[in-house]
Amino acid sequence: MRFAIIGAGVIGAVHARLIEALGDEAALVAVVDRDLDRAGKLVEQYGGHAYASAAEAYAAEQVDAVAICLPSALHADNAIEALQAGKDVIVEKPVDITLAAADRMIEAQRATGRTVAVISQRRFQPPVTQIRSAIDGGALGRVTSGIAESAFFRPQSYYDGDDWRGTLAVDGGGALMNQGIHALDLLVWMLGRPVQVSAQTGRLAHDGIEVEDLAGASILFESGAIGLLLASTAAYPGRPVRLTIHGDQGTAILDDDELAYFSAADAERPEAPVLDGPAGWGATELAHLAQYRDFIAAVREGREPAVTAAAGRRSLATVLAVYESARTGRPVELES
Ligand SMILES: NC(=O)c1ccc[n+]([C@@H]2O[C@H](COP(=O)([O-])OP(=O)(O)OC[C@H]3O[C@@H](n4cnc5c(N)ncnc54)[C@H](O)[C@@H]3O)[C@@H](O)[C@H]2O)c1
Repeated sequence: MRFAIIGAGVIGAVHARLIEALGDEAALVAVVDRDLDRAGKLVEQYGGHAYASAAEAYAAEQVDAVAICLPSALHADNAIEALQAGKDVIVEKPVDITLAAADRMIEAQRATGRTVAVISQRRFQPPVTQIRSAIDGGALGRVTSGIAESAFFRPQSYYDGDDWRGTLAVDGGGALMNQGIHALDLLVWMLGRPVQVSAQTGRLAHDGIEVEDLAGASILFESGAIGLLLASTAAYPGRPVRLTIHGDQGTAILDDDELAYFSAADAERPEAPVLDGPAGWGATELAHLAQYRDFIAAVREGREPAVTAAAGRRSLATVLAVYESARTGRPVELES
């Protein structure tokens, strides 16, 4: 599959490494960035040609699939441009920063019949798939609650370094929209459809940003289960994601990229799948690679990818409900 990467920044460089690691299954034919030097640097290392716009790349190259690695508010427009040019799309999280934008992307996906996958690489991490298979197999019994903790730290220089980070217009939010959405997406994947959110947010440890560096929420799910959420970039020195899932027959805890605890009344600890990839790669990169493999297989087999645009929209809707609840001081109901 011949890929174009749109956005040659931090995550664009990761995607270039992923495409290279896929070997014969994928080739990088174009890198697009408004900063042509950045695109050029990636091309030098990973192949393909550099372009200043997607339109130029689509006109000049045979592109099958497009990886959207742009700042968050640019995701939907660029995905739609790619879909309408007949490409399949893998788009970084969040799907975009408004539900209207996510809906336009979903509509374009339906109209074109192409594939759209939203990156949520942590869904592919072995301990996460172990917990999910324990839920699916009934090992935890009825799932009653979950706790998703993203106690991260970002120095002030993180927000000062790029003009879009920490802005409402392009980042769309802070510790939750940008960072905590990964663990929130896992919570929603495990517990089902959120129906009500009560939340608070704050900005306690950073200056000159328009967004929160702290969010806490209680989420009621359709099943009756309750989820608790902490997303922070103000928790020095920062810890890896911790996700706890409790059921009436068992408990599982993800911590430090491991299944740190598993105990069930009537079930063994699930087997850990082994992810394929280059030696020395970390858990997050291997999981990202596994999501690429799922995307390529979905396109080839004409099936939905593991993380659809609708799944990305559900996590985004939950993030936006957190913000609305924090702003109004009231619980927010989510539409189905
Ligand atoms: N899955 C993950 O773990 C993960 C990690 C980091 C970032 N991300 C996501 O990836 C996205 C990008 O984040 P980043 O950290 O790579 O940002 P970045 O600022 O490092 O890179 C963005 C790139 O886009 C380019 N760009 C901006 N506007 C453009 C335009 N209109 N046309 C073409 N190029 C343009 C910039 O020049 C820059 O090279 C964000 O949505 C972020 O949420 C995901």
